[in-house]
Amino acid sequence: MLREHVSLKSMNTFGVEAEARWYAEVASPAELSSLLADDRVADPAPLVLGGGSNLLLTRDVDRLVLRYVDDHLRVIAPGRDSHLIEVGAGMNWHAFVAWSLANGYVGLENLALIPGTVGAAPIQNIGAYGVEIERFVNAVEVFDRERRCTTLFKHDFCDFAYRWSRFKRDEDRDRYIVVNVRFRLPRRGELQLDYPGLRDELAAMGIDTPGARDVFDAVCRLRRRKLPDPALIGNAGSFFKNPIVSGDVARALLANHPAAPNFDAGPGRRKLGAAWLIDQCGLKGYRDGDAGVSAQHALVLVNHGRASGADLWRVARHVQATVRARFGIDLEPEPVVI
Ligand code: EPU
Repeated sequence: MLREHVSLKSMNTFGVEAEARWYAEVASPAELSSLLADDRVADPAPLVLGGGSNLLLTRDVDRLVLRYVDDHLRVIAPGRDSHLIEVGAGMNWHAFVAWSLANGYVGLENLALIPGTVGAAPIQNIGAYGVEIERFVNAVEVFDRERRCTTLFKHDFCDFAYRWSRFKRDEDRDRYIVVNVRFRLPRRGELQLDYPGLRDELAAMGIDTPGARDVFDAVCRLRRRKLPDPALIGNAGSFFKNPIVSGDVARALLANHPAAPNFDAGPGRRKLGAAWLIDQCGLKGYRDGDAGVSAQHALVLVNHGRASGADLWRVARHVQATVRARFGIDLEPEPVVI
C-alpha cells in the first residue's frame, strides 16, 4: 500500500516532474487511520491529491502524498423536493455532475467539466458561470488527524466564500482530510443564466427555453472553446483568483478603463477580472521557455512541454509583478503551490 519514491508527473495536470517520498491510496477512514499510525508517514501532514488539477509542484514532496480513492455514491435521504446524497471524495467531479443530471436533479449544470474530484471541490468552493458549489453542500465529512476519527462539518461550519473554505486556513489545512461530501440536490429549481455569455451560447445553440441539460451542454461548449484542455496542454485552470478590491480601487481603474470587467462582491467591494488585467498587460500568449500564459485565456498558465514547476512559478511571478506595476493590484494564486 505504501510506496516510496513515486513520480507525480502523471498525477498533476500541469504535467510537471516531481517525486513523492511516500505515496499511498486509501479507500476508507479505517485504512486512512492505520496508514497515518505508521511512524514513517505520520508527520508531517500528508499532501492530499484530488485530481491534481489545482496544484503546482515546484519541487519534490518530502513527505506522504495521499489519494483518497473511495468514489461511492448513495442517496441517503430522498425527500419530496430535494434529496440528500453522499459522495465519496475520490469521485470525479464531472462524473458526479453528469450523474446528477441523468437522475433528474437540477443545480450542478453550471459546474460541468470542472476538473478534479468531489473531495477537493468544497475546499476551494469551486464555482463557474454564476454558481458556487456551497449552494448545494449540506455537510463535509473529514478525517481529523488530531483526534484520529471522522467528523461531519455542517455547511455553516465550513466558512465558504469565493474560492475559499475553512479547510484552507493554516490551522485546518493539515488537520482534516475530506472523505465524503453530502449534497442536497433539488428535484426542480431555477436555472442560473446570469453569467455573461451563457445566454448567448444557448441562443447560438438555437434554444430559447432551456432545461438543465441544455445549460450543461452550453457550459461544456463554452469551457471547451475558452479553456485549454489539460489532456492536450498542461494547465491547472485559472491560475489566479479574480481580485476583490475596495470600491475606491475599482473606481480608479474604471475611470481610466471604463470597459474593465467588474462585479459586485459585497458591501463596498468589487471583484475585477484577473484575465482582463493580465490581457491588458500584453501577457496573453507570453512564453518563457516551455512555461507560459495561455494564448486562449489569459488567466491560465500552461506547460508547452518540458517546463518544470519552478519555470511555471517564475512565469506566475512575472505576471504578478507586471500587473502590480501597471495597475497596483495584487493577484493571488488560486492553486496550491508546493
Ligand atoms: N478576459 C480577457 N482576456 C482573456 C480572457 C478573459 O480580457 O484572455 C475577460 C473576459 O472578457 C471577461 C473577463 O475577463 O470579461 C472574465 O473572463 P471569463 O468569463 O473567462 O471568466 P474568469 O473570471 O476569467 C472565472 C473562473 C473560472 C470559471 C469562469 C466562468 C476564477 C478565478 N475563475 O474565470 O474558473 O470557469 O469564471 O465562470 O474565478 C477555475 O477556477 O479554474 C476556473 C476556470
